[in-house]
Amino acid sequence: MDPTQQFLLFLLVGVAATLSLATNSPVPQRPAGCTPREREALLAFKRGITNDPAGRLASWKRGNHDCCRWRGVQCSNLTGHVLELHLQNNLPEYYSDFEFKVTALVGKITTPLLALEHLEHLDLSNNNLTGPAGRFPGFIGSLRNLIYVNFSGMPLTGMVPPQLGNLTKLQYLDLSRGNGIGMYSTDIQWLTHLPSLRYLDLSNVNLSRISDWPRVMNMNADLRALYLSSCALTSASQSFSHLNFTRLEKLDLSDNDFNQPLASCWFWNLTSLTYLDLIMNILPGQFPDSLGDMKALQVFRFSSNGHSIIMPNLLRNLCNLEILDLGSLSSCNITELLDSLMHCLTKRIRKLYLWDNNITGTLPTGVGKFTSLDTLDLSHNQLTGSVPYEISMLTSLAKIDLSLNNLTGEITEKHLAGLKSLKTIDLSSNQYLKIVVGPEWQPPFRLEVARFGSCQLGPMFPSWLQWMVNIKELDIWSTGITDQLPHWFWTTFSKATDLVISSNNISGSLPANMETMSLERLYLGSNQITGVIPILPPNLTLLEIQNNMLSGSVASKTFGSAPQLGFMDLSSNNIKGHIPGSICELQHLQYLNLANNHLEGEFPQCIGMTELQHFILNNNSLSGKVPSFLKGCKQLKYLDLSQNKFHGRLPSWIGNFSEVQILILNNNSFSGHIPTSITNLAKLARLNLANNNISGVLP
Ligand SMILES: *[C@@H]1O[C@H](CO)[C@@H](O)[C@H](O)[C@H]1NC(C)=O
Ligand SMILES: *[C@@H]1O[C@H](CO)[C@@H](O)[C@H](O)[C@H]1NC(C)=O
Ligand SMILES: *[C@@H]1O[C@H](CO)[C@@H](O)[C@H](O)[C@H]1NC(C)=O
Ligand SMILES: *[C@@H]1O[C@H](CO)[C@@H](O)[C@H](O)[C@H]1NC(C)=O
Ligand SMILES: *[C@@H]1O[C@H](CO)[C@@H](O)[C@H](O)[C@H]1NC(C)=O
Ligand SMILES: *[C@@H]1O[C@H](CO)[C@@H](O)[C@H](O)[C@H]1NC(C)=O
Ligand SMILES: *[C@@H]1O[C@H](CO)[C@@H](O)[C@H](O)[C@H]1NC(C)=O
Ligand SMILES: *[C@@H]1O[C@H](CO)[C@@H](O)[C@H](O)[C@H]1NC(C)=O
Ligand SMILES: *[C@@H]1O[C@H](CO)[C@@H](O)[C@H](O)[C@H]1NC(C)=O
Ligand SMILES: *[C@@H]1O[C@H](CO)[C@@H](O)[C@H](O)[C@H]1NC(C)=O
Ligand SMILES: *[C@@H]1O[C@H](CO)[C@@H](O)[C@H](O)[C@H]1NC(C)=O
Ligand SMILES: *[C@@H]1O[C@H](CO)[C@@H](O)[C@H](O)[C@H]1NC(C)=O
Repeated sequence: MDPTQQFLLFLLVGVAATLSLATNSPVPQRPAGCTPREREALLAFKRGITNDPAGRLASWKRGNHDCCRWRGVQCSNLTGHVLELHLQNNLPEYYSDFEFKVTALVGKITTPLLALEHLEHLDLSNNNLTGPAGRFPGFIGSLRNLIYVNFSGMPLTGMVPPQLGNLTKLQYLDLSRGNGIGMYSTDIQWLTHLPSLRYLDLSNVNLSRISDWPRVMNMNADLRALYLSSCALTSASQSFSHLNFTRLEKLDLSDNDFNQPLASCWFWNLTSLTYLDLIMNILPGQFPDSLGDMKALQVFRFSSNGHSIIMPNLLRNLCNLEILDLGSLSSCNITELLDSLMHCLTKRIRKLYLWDNNITGTLPTGVGKFTSLDTLDLSHNQLTGSVPYEISMLTSLAKIDLSLNNLTGEITEKHLAGLKSLKTIDLSSNQYLKIVVGPEWQPPFRLEVARFGSCQLGPMFPSWLQWMVNIKELDIWSTGITDQLPHWFWTTFSKATDLVISSNNISGSLPANMETMSLERLYLGSNQITGVIPILPPNLTLLEIQNNMLSGSVASKTFGSAPQLGFMDLSSNNIKGHIPGSICELQHLQYLNLANNHLEGEFPQCIGMTELQHFILNNNSLSGKVPSFLKGCKQLKYLDLSQNKFHGRLPSWIGNFSEVQILILNNNSFSGHIPTSITNLAKLARLNLANNNISGVLP
């Protein structure tokens, strides 16, 4: 632009600006704010919310005059009316009750909301605004302008209100519920009044009484996505004079109560489908030929339906498949199946699930052609022979599961060298499979889950595992390792939650202090671990170190650091001395086994510990009376105090254990009569009181 042009432009802009000032611009200005009526309505709505733990509605206050600027509120630029309420509680796909409670709004939806007459978008998902009654507020049906309603993840119960049929502009309706009890409906005719509906999710709404649901849904010619998972639907049969569903793309009918021949389902003609989920039903028989015409399919899930049969040829032309889940068919020929998929999917398919399909024979070398695979699950089949080297070509593979087969031969560096993306490997339960890599090998991957249980890894401890610093779960149960625990073991796996190294010949000791470790479950049974029991990891729930060579006495603080511990087996070691009082801090203990050690003295006088079911102390030198806190353990099933020095009378409350099956008290110094209450133990299967000083008669 030369100077003259610049000047001209300046002049033009100036003139335009002056003009627009002078003529009071016709360009619509943003109104000063929301209308007072709607602001009051929002404030009244907020009063119905009794708890907002994350402060998500902090900006909703009278002082902030313009409610259009409140968090989650969107207004029309033209009129200032509230059009959208985005009050969803953003949670990950799978969340815990705890995570839900930390951010969910609690309370109820009140009628002042109706003053927002122009509301088009209402997203209250993942909150708890159900009120004490837990019901869906039917008056929502009066907000005539609603286009989008999302109540997903609300703990609602009761009937889905038919008043929703008044929302004639509705395009999106999501009433799905994560888990637990949900709503029900006995009549869904109201859905036929929603001509614009494109997206409907009623997952977890009980529709068991509605048999003609496909006919009702068929009235919505614009439907693109229909999710009816876990709806207790009983039938998928329907004949149509005219199939309206020609635009349906996504159909989820998983986890219903269908029990009918696969081919009799109504949906096989829907060539527009890109997503079809049918897992967890009972749909036996042959897949119909029309499956071969569903060429738009990208995701097809069909596992856990029992005894269905697929002709691999049907998949030949489904060239858009990315996820194919065919677990639990009655049988499947892996060679033919891969041949069919090879026709057009080698660069496309990402996830292939073929578990529990009675697959025999060897894994074909052709598997190496599917270079986009990120998940390959062939677990629980009868694969034999060795794993082909071609597996190494799957550079995108993040998860491979070949567990529960009968693979043989060796897995070598050559198999693993190309698997740059691998995060999860499961080769467990292939007892003839050997993993053979050199001591200097550096893997190209960082695993998070590694399961090799009952394969052959030993006799040396596999040194390549030292690079796996991101491990969450390691299973090397019974892998023939006869070696010392390497010096790097506890630091490399300090972030792991599950370590399963039982049934090897591993020697070495535990670190003195495990307080910074993330372990939740530690299985070390049947090895040759020596040393003392250390301060335990804080999140530990399960500890098995039975059949080892632990010695020394237990330090006073040992157990106090792991208050979540529910299962502890320290039996058959050489532990001596007194049981420290810190054991009483294990208030969630259900299983305690200290048998076959050299423990002495009295069991500490604990309070609580009411969840105990197994209390096994036999073959020590423990003394004192039957620990009195056991009186409160109503769920006790198994009590073994035999071969100790316990004395005193058997307490009469022993008859209160309605669940007790095994009561073994022999070889102690118990005295007095057998309490008559013992006859109350209806489930008792074994009783041994031999070699005590007990007198009198058997009640
Ligand atoms: C309203 O204004 C905002 C920003 O001021 C803009 O992002 C949005 O697109 C406008 N909406 C309409 C419907 O004009
Ligand atoms: C409804 O909300 C949930 C959770 O916020 C979200 O996952 C889902 O996609 C929403 N449904 C629709 C139709 O947008
Ligand atoms: C929802 O809130 C109610 C109180 O209004 C409460 O009783 C209920 O336990 C809460 N539900 C969930 C799943 O948090
Ligand atoms: C809304 O729906 C209910 C139930 O279907 C119906 O009785 C009522 O008349 C409808 N209200 C309006 C204003 O249409
Ligand atoms: C659905 O409701 C029926 C009664 O209408 C009931 O028998 C059935 O147990 C319910 N199913 C589920 C999964 O809640
Ligand atoms: C197909 O959809 C249209 C529009 O919703 C509806 O009027 C018609 O009854 C439907 N046809 C069938 C056979 O359900
Ligand atoms: C599917 O299409 C075939 C052939 O076009 C037809 O015979 C059959 O009745 C259709 N099935 C359904 C459920 O519409
Ligand atoms: C597995 O296949 C064999 C023959 O290959 C057959 O005898 C057996 O019944 C099948 N098992 C199941 C569970 O289908
Ligand atoms: C699988 O199919 C191939 C090719 O049709 C055939 O050669 C092979 O014997 C079949 N395998 C089994 C286990 O039936
Ligand atoms: C597994 O393979 C081994 C060695 O080839 C064989 O001896 C064994 O019988 C097979 N086991 C099963 C359950 O097929
Ligand atoms: C442990 O080693 C001994 C010999 O040192 C051997 O007899 C035993 O079978 C081994 N146990 C395991 C589980 O490998
Ligand atoms: C224990 O679990 C809590 C909650 O999951 C977690 O925040 C904490 O980091 C864990 N502690 C360790 C040592 O991993």
